[in-house]
Amino acid sequence: MEEKERAGAAAEAPLDGAPGQQGGSAPDPGTSGGAAVPGRGAARGLGVSDVVVRYEKRDRGARRGRALTTAVDHVSLDVAKGEIVALLGPSGCGKSSLLRAVAGLEPLAQGTVTWDDADLAGVLVHRRQFGLMFQDGQLFPHRNVERNVAYGLEAQHVPRAERAARVTELLDLVSLAGFGRRRVANLSGGERQRVALARALAPRPRLLLLDEPLSALDRRLRERLAADVRDVLRETGTTALFVTHDHEEAFTVADRVGVMSAGRLLQLAAPEVLRSSPATPEVEEFLR
Ligand SMILES: Nc1ncnc2c1ncn2[C@@H]1O[C@H](COP(=O)(O)OP(=O)(O)OP(=O)(O)O)[C@@H](O)[C@H]1O
Ligand SMILES: [Mg+2]
Repeated sequence: MEEKERAGAAAEAPLDGAPGQQGGSAPDPGTSGGAAVPGRGAARGLGVSDVVVRYEKRDRGARRGRALTTAVDHVSLDVAKGEIVALLGPSGCGKSSLLRAVAGLEPLAQGTVTWDDADLAGVLVHRRQFGLMFQDGQLFPHRNVERNVAYGLEAQHVPRAERAARVTELLDLVSLAGFGRRRVANLSGGERQRVALARALAPRPRLLLLDEPLSALDRRLRERLAADVRDVLRETGTTALFVTHDHEEAFTVADRVGVMSAGRLLQLAAPEVLRSSPATPEVEEFLR
């Protein structure tokens, strides 16, 4: 697909409503030692099983009716609590579609998405306690930095003093201490993405979904920020699913990297395993 068209497609269908999606104040049963499924460890986390996502074809051509394209083709994967998994693959291979399906923004044609083995099929996006972050940050232009970061906490009705303390903590974490009163319009691209990360993390999402969060930045900044994102996610013990088409970025940030092609997950393994033992010639070719 052409670069321009891709940009257009992304703009058409962002993981919209991102800032508001971390609602729900119920404690995470996983982290609070609550009900675990018998026989399963406390590190269960996200389960994606045999997921299929289909869209009606955009270019209908001569054919009428419901011509379907399969964007995600029977994908299964797990993300354990505290683990960072990156999904890597060329444009149009279904990375965003899979992420959106996990978020609950895209209906599943088949398969299940679970958290601690509980099926999320009937759980609305904002009830999943998942945080979302995108390429363009989608900050609220009329809110300053601290009110952007506070957004999810306001939605959860966190008391003012606690909110302020959390915002300070988060701004510290993303190296933006003292930026609280700045207008977001006056921030650099890198600073904006740091604010977006702080905002996504503020409500302590049980899973953070990141869709190409650094793609809009130039290469040097992207490399630095990738290392910072990894450190922040590690420091906070955040469980994350990170979509990118940049090999180095995936290998920098993630514990395990999944290589996708044409809707399928070809291999999911630690970076050193992918490099030393690619499962198929396609994986080897892609990583070359
Ligand atoms: N809303 C939609 N309607 C129809 N087809 C879609 C829609 N969204 C995505 N697709 C198609 O589904 C396939 C997977 O798209 P997806 O956006 O998931 O890819 P991606 O791996 O995220 O690509 P990129 O790296 O360009 O962001 C593509 O063929 C795309 O054209
Ligand atoms: Mg995408």
